[in-house]
Amino acid sequence: MRTNKFLGRDWIDAAIDYTKEEWETLIEAALYLKKKYALGEDTSHLLKGKTLFTMFFNQSLRTRSTFAAGIQQLGGYHVDLEPGKTYTPARKGFDIPYKTERIADVARMLSRVGDAIAIRMYGPPSQWIYGFANATIKEFAEFSDIPIINMECDKYHPTQALADLITIKEKFGGFKGKKFTMSWAYSGSIEKPRAVPQSVILAATKMGMDVTLAHPKGFDLDPEVINHAKAFSKQTNGSFRITNDFEEGFRNTDIVYPKSWGASSCYTYVDDEGNTVNKKNHEEAEKLNEAAISWKTTEKEMELTDKNAVYMHCLPADRGQEVTDNVIDGPKSVVIDEAENRLHAHKAIMALLMGGNL
Ligand code: CP
Repeated sequence: MRTNKFLGRDWIDAAIDYTKEEWETLIEAALYLKKKYALGEDTSHLLKGKTLFTMFFNQSLRTRSTFAAGIQQLGGYHVDLEPGKTYTPARKGFDIPYKTERIADVARMLSRVGDAIAIRMYGPPSQWIYGFANATIKEFAEFSDIPIINMECDKYHPTQALADLITIKEKFGGFKGKKFTMSWAYSGSIEKPRAVPQSVILAATKMGMDVTLAHPKGFDLDPEVINHAKAFSKQTNGSFRITNDFEEGFRNTDIVYPKSWGASSCYTYVDDEGNTVNKKNHEEAEKLNEAAISWKTTEKEMELTDKNAVYMHCLPADRGQEVTDNVIDGPKSVVIDEAENRLHAHKAIMALLMGGNL
């Protein structure tokens, strides 16, 4: 009888909860499935007859399409439960009669009829209360008997981070000694979650890279995430530093990942009792954002990077704001490979958590 220690587990705060060795296994599994896909080999026995439920409270192209294609390629089915068309799942204390349904009931019901539930929630559906969406996904996990997969919440986007590591592994062969920069970039849209930069710096430090986080003042990430990143870099003999200088992040780096996220004042913060300690301040967030309009990636910044450096972005990119066309379409850009790797990452996660015999 084979044992699979991934079987039945949740994938929520994955960069924290899964070990370095488990991330390595997932990367290997994804590359194995990618090779099989390229060779046209059938993998439809892996999740034959299994059902994945998805719930998108926000828009999506990559995550939606690759989870749907991935489960189908592994022999399973995908049911998209559009919040609004079903009764909107609600946490305890947030019920609206005949509009919402308590998560405890939704999670227990779906556990009887399917094999995993994947959820995306951040921003307006969670009233921009920092941590609310993460707590919502964890409430599903509390009541579900099947794996819960975080497809991006207000804290983490771990499936994106896995695809990013797969891309780095393909381009550089490994992680140790590689200089990785996660940078803020300007966008006209000030309201964006911190999920990508937070997951990515955790995954990069966990793999032992030399990580730089670059952002203007006022765009700090969650201190809890920063503490984890520091601890991971110590455990793996990598390094982690923060700079408020845009160009500094590009200098001699191997991998640069400039993308926008909301200023700290873009979110409301509540304490453990649910009391508001800091209310979202749109005006201040806008002011901070406009003050950093020069944080746009152009050829000038890319020239500061190592000659073999790559440009990464999770997409969608705000062209002309975060980055110029000639950089994102240029020779150093790996953004389409990165987006493709979402498919292979999701297949590896589903195969291992939902019971594939890889
Ligand atoms: N990067 C990413 O998650 O893309 P989507 O928002 O299109 O899913």
